[in-house]
Amino acid sequence: MDQQCTPLAEHLQAFAKSNPVSFHVPGHKHGQIFSPAYKADFQPMLRWDVTEITEMDDLHAPTGVIAEAEKLAADFFKTEHTFFLVGGSTAGNLAMILATCKQGEKILVQRNCHKSVMNGLELAGAKPVFLAPEWDDDVKRYTSPSYETVESAIEQHPDAQALVLTYPDYFGQTYNLKKMIDKAHQYNIPVLVDEAHGVHFALGDPFPASAIQLGADAVVHSAHKMAPAMTMASYLHIVTQRVDQSRIAHYLQVIQSSSPSYILMASLDIARHFLATYSKEERIKMIKSVEYVKTLFVSFPFWEFVPSDDPLKLTFHVKHSFSTKSVVNSLEKAGIFPELATEEQILFVHGLASFEQIEMLEKRLKTIEHPLKKSVNRATIERINLFPDKIQELDLSYQEMNNYTTYLIPMKESIGEIAAEAIIPYPPGIPILLKGERIKQAHIAHLEKLVEQGVRIQHRDSGLRIYRNKGER
Ligand SMILES: Cc1ncc(COP(=O)(O)O)c(C=O)c1O
Repeated sequence: MDQQCTPLAEHLQAFAKSNPVSFHVPGHKHGQIFSPAYKADFQPMLRWDVTEITEMDDLHAPTGVIAEAEKLAADFFKTEHTFFLVGGSTAGNLAMILATCKQGEKILVQRNCHKSVMNGLELAGAKPVFLAPEWDDDVKRYTSPSYETVESAIEQHPDAQALVLTYPDYFGQTYNLKKMIDKAHQYNIPVLVDEAHGVHFALGDPFPASAIQLGADAVVHSAHKMAPAMTMASYLHIVTQRVDQSRIAHYLQVIQSSSPSYILMASLDIARHFLATYSKEERIKMIKSVEYVKTLFVSFPFWEFVPSDDPLKLTFHVKHSFSTKSVVNSLEKAGIFPELATEEQILFVHGLASFEQIEMLEKRLKTIEHPLKKSVNRATIERINLFPDKIQELDLSYQEMNNYTTYLIPMKESIGEIAAEAIIPYPPGIPILLKGERIKQAHIAHLEKLVEQGVRIQHRDSGLRIYRNKGER
């Protein structure tokens, strides 16, 4: 079938135009029954919000328009099969892990992965071997594990059921993924890649090679992050037969809704079409626009540009004499909203088209100068080596955790105890302490610094929750 086609979107469009009479769910009946205050805003899309009636196909056993749309995606991304996901890359990561790793089996995992990977490990009852990322002075962040770490983990654990890597990172940074994949394949270990931030790598130049091209066995893409798809809409690609497609299909129907949104699925069909028909002219315009936006931002004295392998990711490192929070506050007051801010860096994500609000952006950028000149001095954060062990297993297995009770204790008293919850500064949502890991002085020191900096920690209690035997306090 031709990449110009959008079988699912076309089918929904034609159906909506035919003014169908609905005696089925959903209850809004093509938008006729809806709260008046919101009806006008929602109605165009509610006409597409249907259910599995005749000829609408079924996401969990597709044979019609959904199967055709998935096949077009598989052809475009060059995969064996592409699953449409309505539960984000979160659902894809869970399914990949559950399908490849059974209870008590080993799995090699990049430590600074998304929490959905961690949740997948726990649900599978896997025995994870974590690979610590390296600090990269060029970008001033922890990025990926080194090749040597991956090589040595594979050699120490040749019985691992999979190697799970994140590529690129949130900031668009890549690494020599191919070399790691080749090493894993020497041991017939499948490589599962969380490429949530890299769906657009399929476009080729000026973007880095995609994990699919580099030989990964299964890959997830949050289509909604970097392509024009709706939030949650994602792809899970099966690239080789090292992963069992039918087991993945099984877990996807366990994890995802039995009433998946047709609007989300259609947006995946449309996003694939957008990428597959992306023209040379659009590419040139996009590159020029990125460069122009960058020059506007770079002119401010309070930060420095940090290069990225992905040109759409514009990262700025805030200079020490400024507070990152105050820079973000000033931007937001001016109506400019970045993707994320860490302790020292602010990330802006450019889209795949020329920036349409450039005049508005220029005007708004002019209004932020004054507040920033008043910014307070920020103490230099001393960098702590958070991951001294390059290859690390949990101190308490997921099975053992069930036999323990959890207690909440003050942070300072928790050193030497085993964490009963992952501690995840947000953003970017990377756990600095794992559930089941023994708490070290360095963890606490780093956490205290982050709290001082005002970084939000995805953790509902003021102390730390730890594991102890029942009765032991
Ligand atoms: C690396 C990474 N993987 C997976 C996810 C989850 O993606 P989704 O929001 O599509 O469920 C995220 C979300 O930010 C992420 O950053």
